[in-house]
Amino acid sequence: MKHIIAFAGSNSSKSINKQLSTYAASLVEDVKSTILDLNDFELPVFGVDLEKKEGIPENAQKLLNHIKNSDGIILSLAEHNGAYATVFKNIFDWMSRAEQKTFMGKPMLLMAASPGGRGGASVLAMAKDRFPRHNAKIVATFSLPNFYENFADGELINASLNTELETATTAFQQALLTMATEPSEDRK
Ligand SMILES: Cc1cc2nc3c(=O)[nH]c(=O)nc-3n(C[C@H](O)[C@H](O)[C@H](O)COP(=O)(O)O)c2cc1C
Repeated sequence: MKHIIAFAGSNSSKSINKQLSTYAASLVEDVKSTILDLNDFELPVFGVDLEKKEGIPENAQKLLNHIKNSDGIILSLAEHNGAYATVFKNIFDWMSRAEQKTFMGKPMLLMAASPGGRGGASVLAMAKDRFPRHNAKIVATFSLPNFYENFADGELINASLNTELETATTAFQQALLTMATEPSEDRK
C-alpha cells in the first residue's frame, strides 16, 4: 500500500491548513496517511553560524526522513505577509542544507488556505516556483479562499470547491500509482 504524508506549513494549534491537508488526505483512497504537525519538529532559527557550530538539528533530518519514506506529499501552506509562515521557512531552510533535493521527487499536492478572498495565492505562487528546484513533483494545486465560509466540521462545504479538490486529489492519487519514486521504507 502507498504511504502519504500530509502536513501544514503552520504551527497554529487550530491551523486551517492542517484541517485542509487532513481533509484532502482523507479523499485519497487506498493509501496509508500520516498526518504530521510542525510543532513536533521544533527547531532553532536557522543561521549559518549556528549550522557551522552545531550542524543540522535532528528534527530537520526527522522531517526529511518522513519525506524520504513516503510515496507522496500533501502540503498546505499558511500565508503570512504574502510568504511562507516563519515555522515553515525555517524548517525548509534547515532541510535544504541537509538535502538540496528536499522533496526527493515525490508527487506533491500543494495547497494554501486563508480566511481571506485570495486563498493564499501569493505563498502558493512562491512555492510553485521554488519547490521544483528542490525536486518537488507538483502534480496538482488547490487554493481555498474564505476558509470559515467554505469549511466546517472537517469538510469542505462548498460544492464547487469540493469538486475542484476532488479533481486535485484524483490527479495526486494517479501520480502515486504511475510515478516512479524510490520505494518507501514500508515497501522495501
Ligand atoms: C503575521 C500574519 C500575517 C498574515 N498575512 C496574511 C497574508 O499575507 N495573506 C493572507 O491571506 N492571510 C494572512 N494572514 C492570515 C492567515 O492566513 C491566517 O492566520 C491563517 O489562519 C493562517 O493559516 P493557519 O491557520 O494554517 O496557520 C496572516 C496572519 C498572520 C498571523
